[in-house]
Amino acid sequence: MNTQDQTISQKKGEAWFKACRVEDLAENGGVCVKYGEEQIALFYFTRRNEWYATQNQCPHKRQMALSRGMIGSCGEEPKIACPFHKKTFSLLTGQCLNGDDCTIKTYPVKVESGLVFIGVGQQHSDAGYSVFI
Ligand code: FES
Repeated sequence: MNTQDQTISQKKGEAWFKACRVEDLAENGGVCVKYGEEQIALFYFTRRNEWYATQNQCPHKRQMALSRGMIGSCGEEPKIACPFHKKTFSLLTGQCLNGDDCTIKTYPVKVESGLVFIGVGQQHSDAGYSVFI
């Protein structure tokens, strides 16, 4: 799925880009969103009615795979399990929950008027993006 319309909104030093529509994600599913050269995994955790975004690359073997992982909970902590070797990461902090010394980058997500925005901190000069399911 590709979306042609790209919107970057900046307020108070924040940069948000429009990743997709709410209905573009399956319940409890993830998609990979390309923003500039970055691949961002975006998740709709339907059971918790929460959205999360992380880097798509798993730090274990550098597979671009986290968007295809399985989301779940470890106690109250929402997590993503990489589909390759099942390393799990907190969707809140990015910390590896298997005790490994690695973390993943997390991004803020907001939903407005049926659209999903990812906070990217600073705008890329080449801010084109695509969404892949
Ligand atoms: S590549 Fe993700 S756990 Fe190994």
